[in-house]
Amino acid sequence: MVRDPAADPAVDLRGVTKDYGGVGVFDLDLRVERGEVVGFLGPNGAGKSTTIRVVLDLVRPEAGTVRVLGLDPRAAGPQVRARLGFLPSDLAVWGRATARQALDHLARLRGGVDPAWTGELCRRLDVDLDRPLRTLSTGNRQKVGLVQALAHRPDLVVLDEPTMGLDPLVQQEVQRLLRETADEGRTVLLSSHTLSEVERVADRVAVLRRGRLVAVERVAALKQVAVRRVRAELDREPDAGAFRRLQGVRDVVVDGRRLEAVVEGHVDALVKELARSTVVSLDVEEADLEEVFLAMYAGDGRAAAGCGGGDGAAAPGHRAGAAR
Ligand SMILES: Nc1ncnc2c1ncn2[C@@H]1O[C@H](COP(=O)(O)OP(=O)(O)OP(=O)(O)O)[C@@H](O)[C@H]1O
Ligand SMILES: [Mg+2]
Repeated sequence: MVRDPAADPAVDLRGVTKDYGGVGVFDLDLRVERGEVVGFLGPNGAGKSTTIRVVLDLVRPEAGTVRVLGLDPRAAGPQVRARLGFLPSDLAVWGRATARQALDHLARLRGGVDPAWTGELCRRLDVDLDRPLRTLSTGNRQKVGLVQALAHRPDLVVLDEPTMGLDPLVQQEVQRLLRETADEGRTVLLSSHTLSEVERVADRVAVLRRGRLVAVERVAALKQVAVRRVRAELDREPDAGAFRRLQGVRDVVVDGRRLEAVVEGHVDALVKELARSTVVSLDVEEADLEEVFLAMYAGDGRAAAGCGGGDGAAAPGHRAGAAR
């Protein structure tokens, strides 16, 4: 039977160890399917960049197996690299060249790059094409790095801290581009320091601590247990008791025609109860998944596996073994 290479996972790491003398990454298992966006989270030194370098074959692990798009990146280097887009965290600057010259040069080296798509990327990210790269601000240089990572429509896009230094509107545009990439069946692996960034774009988050994968969670699963504050104003005084009886609804406070409550998981039941009256205004706060993470992985007084600072204890329950 002929194997369908498109069915192979985008990334398959098994028991990967890169030991820099007690630091690095250890016994890492992670499988990323085609069309997924997976975000690596973890504090400084957790092993995010090292893992990314292993995937790119920039660093060779002493133990474990690495498969990228079904291939061994060590044996099939050029074949794999042609299908990869990469933004390093420490993007090298290309001297006197302008972004236009640098992107043209890279496109010629790669071949098969659609100039119209590169143009669209530059427009969407508002890239300054005509000034020497070395004179660009950090954020503007980062945008050029993003364009070169996406221009050849790679099957796997690997981005080490892609939105570092970008202003919020550009960050949102990057997130849209990454979702579009995944919607086309291509795969995105990125690293970040903040869960709030990853939750907007990723299907799953993989939390690293001291070189070990301590948790892999679906963002949707986090959202299901996430806690949101809801504020509503009705045309008449709400019946506090009816709201208190709803599952997952707590801290109900009624003040005249206003109601405030905290909802765990879906807001559906609360919204339906509200809809018995005329809803004058409704405000549902965005769930803070960082809080969920902290709650899920808080353990025995040591730092939790959230994404704030500090380093931490391995999480109970969701270990790397379940990293699928
Ligand atoms: N080439 C190297 N030589 C020695 N130690 C290294 C090397 N590369 C990484 N390390 C060590 O491996 C650990 C993981 O580093 P890594 O760069 O992967 O962390 P990170 O999660 O990307 O951190 P940051 O958030 O700061 O970018 C760190 O302790 C780092 O000092
Ligand atoms: Mg890093």
